[in-house]
Amino acid sequence: MGKGLSTGYLDAAREIAGSLAAELAEDSVRAESVLKEALRSDCDLVSSVGTHVSDAGGKRIRPLFVSLGARATGPEYDANRVAALGACVEMIHMATLIHDDVIDGADTRRGRRTACDVFGNTAGILTGDVLLARAMEVLATDGDLAIIRLISKAVVEMATGEVMEVEARGVFDLDRSRHLEILRKKTATFLGACCKAGAIVAGGSDELCDGMERYGEDVGMGFQIADDLLDFRGSPQTTGKPRATDFREGCATMPLIHLRGSLTHEESEYVKSKFGNGVAEADLDLISTWMSERKSYELTERDAAAYIERAKSALSVVPRAPIAELLTRVADLMVAREA
Ligand code: IPE
Ligand code: IPE
Ligand code: MG
Ligand code: MG
Repeated sequence: MGKGLSTGYLDAAREIAGSLAAELAEDSVRAESVLKEALRSDCDLVSSVGTHVSDAGGKRIRPLFVSLGARATGPEYDANRVAALGACVEMIHMATLIHDDVIDGADTRRGRRTACDVFGNTAGILTGDVLLARAMEVLATDGDLAIIRLISKAVVEMATGEVMEVEARGVFDLDRSRHLEILRKKTATFLGACCKAGAIVAGGSDELCDGMERYGEDVGMGFQIADDLLDFRGSPQTTGKPRATDFREGCATMPLIHLRGSLTHEESEYVKSKFGNGVAEADLDLISTWMSERKSYELTERDAAAYIERAKSALSVVPRAPIAELLTRVADLMVAREA
């Protein structure tokens, strides 16, 4: 995995029960090997784009969530299926990242140049399509209809969320509830589906599978809100992504939604004039200082924390002690991150 992009979950697992860390590490090695195999292509350009994105690392949270969903259910499950599904969800994620960077015009991802920057938008978009189709192939080979339905629905939601975000572009006064709906669709539903898919593989009851889905979704909401905070406040060296892409591209996210309420008419006109409109670094510095002084960052942290608390309450369905404790810690780590 890429340097500096680890979530620290293995350390947490080691602290709670050393055996858990070893098992999760094994799951991850297996998923990586399926992923590597699935990225092979007889088209050199497809292999190059896929490898470029995959080798840059990333946190690999989606395969982790498949694994955690399975482990939350019980120790007896088919590890090869969990690995295949882990590779499948990471490929879907990789495809959406490549497409997202075309949409956002981003030049850096996972600490390297984006695929579209290196290979061009056309190669990026088409390889994203190949990865998505390959993921569907892996899913069909697994053959569990409930999982096929679950993941396909999550992909529909994710793509719809991205379209809704494009639709909301440049809307400075974007509604908080509309914004949250976009986050649920573009990020949270998929993380919920990863957890639930793992729980289904391990033969979980409906109650447990649904509980894991709720957990993943609420962690996903907190995760995306934390990501939007990092977009303004994070260091590009650590996040591996450029600064303030959301603001530059005219996407209103939670720090801006909170800031809006504290601006005078003149300040608001000034911020609005820069929103999605070629903002300079000095303007970003001022806007970021206001966000800090006027508690927009703090309020955004609270929004993320509220989702994390809700996620933890969904864990009442998880009967096994060490994994339930790890899921609690993982939920916290997803928002207390710097990358
Ligand atoms: C980035 O996801 C897109 C969002 C949903 C915020 P990650 O933050 O999981 O990206 P990688 O896989 O670690 O690069
Ligand atoms: C990406 O959202 C969500 C996807 C489903 C791809 P962002 O645009 O906020 O993600 P980053 O910040 O580029 O990783
Ligand atoms: Mg983006
Ligand atoms: Mg985006």
